[in-house]
Amino acid sequence: MVFLVKVLFTLLMAHESFGMMSSKAMEGYPEGFLGNCPGSNKPAIITKKSLKYLGLVVLGDDSPQSPRKYRSRTYNYYQAKEIAKNPNWDFRRKTILFLGGYLDSPNFFVSQIMGKTYRKMGYNVLLMEANRFLTLHYPISARYVRPIGMHIAEMLTNLTQPGLMDLNKFELAGISLGGQLISFVAKNYHRITGNKIPRLTALDPSGPCFRNNDPENRLDDSDGDLVVVIETNIDGFGMAAPVGHVNFYVNGGEYQPADLYWIPCSVMCSHVRSYTIWYVALHHPKSFIGVKCDSVQEARKHACFGKTPLSTNILSPYYVNASNPGIFYLATDNNYPYYLGEKGLNKDGEFWTKNLIYFNSEEVLKL
Ligand SMILES: *[C@@H]1O[C@H](CO)[C@@H](O)[C@H](O)[C@H]1NC(C)=O
Ligand SMILES: *[C@@H]1O[C@H](CO)[C@@H](O)[C@H](O)[C@H]1NC(C)=O
Repeated sequence: MVFLVKVLFTLLMAHESFGMMSSKAMEGYPEGFLGNCPGSNKPAIITKKSLKYLGLVVLGDDSPQSPRKYRSRTYNYYQAKEIAKNPNWDFRRKTILFLGGYLDSPNFFVSQIMGKTYRKMGYNVLLMEANRFLTLHYPISARYVRPIGMHIAEMLTNLTQPGLMDLNKFELAGISLGGQLISFVAKNYHRITGNKIPRLTALDPSGPCFRNNDPENRLDDSDGDLVVVIETNIDGFGMAAPVGHVNFYVNGGEYQPADLYWIPCSVMCSHVRSYTIWYVALHHPKSFIGVKCDSVQEARKHACFGKTPLSTNILSPYYVNASNPGIFYLATDNNYPYYLGEKGLNKDGEFWTKNLIYFNSEEVLKL
């Protein structure tokens, strides 16, 4: 009891001594999880011998009744030229290369489900095989994204030679560490061919070991003609800076809402929400609409609503407005399928505000 009184007293005194509203200047700003990884920008080499562990999977139909030649097939670095002859490949279609994250493999559900969705949308689908290099300690895998990106770009260079793939029909998408990897693929592709890959989509690109890097060593809007970023856990596994052209800060970008609104989705849960949201956006390409913010700080504070004229952008495989770049607050529901459509454009549709107002809407509480 005495202890409790002491604690209360100390708290009261602390309160007295501040005597003013808290502010960001007083509180400080989050540093972000593992911002700096000393040495992770130093060279890393994949030897000629190990290049056979790097590959691209052409996604096919893996159902048991499908003839063998139409099933998925992995091409290692040295077999890249043969991809063009794959019977699942059709150069008239659009092509997506999807890059998974840390510890990922093209056989795991993240890449498989995403790939199958794109296939249903009529794309040729390539998945990255780099498991050998993405299952080391995280800061080491983070260092390996540079040579992985370079060699994948070399493989793509062969695939996009004149007469083969039309570069304008080519896209890259990646989640987490794959969201940074797409940058190194795009940078190297540009260096080798002089051309930029038109569309890049990054799903909560990794912040750890990248968030404080210069543009040469992280995802950047100079990497593609249109770089779209989904931000769902900016101080944890994601990164806070608006490094793309069009940047969607989902529910402010810090944490995602879970079932009970006063318990947020954890770091991992918030990070992975970027994937689910993109998956839903592929099926409902006009349903995630964000409102423009003046700053990331404003997005963090859920304070981007009510501006006139209303400026919006759509998180979509097809309808992102490249002529309206910037920072967008994307309000979502706490349950699948998450999208709110136009309801998400108003403050009272915003998840936390809505619930906070509701729970204390009684003028006087009696119990
Ligand atoms: C790309 O094509 C060139 C020329 O045809 C060839 O020398 C090179 O080995 C190929 N690279 C890959 C990764 O297939
Ligand atoms: C795209 O954004 C520009 C700039 O805000 C705007 O003028 C234009 O109407 C938008 N296009 C669509 C299709 O909404």
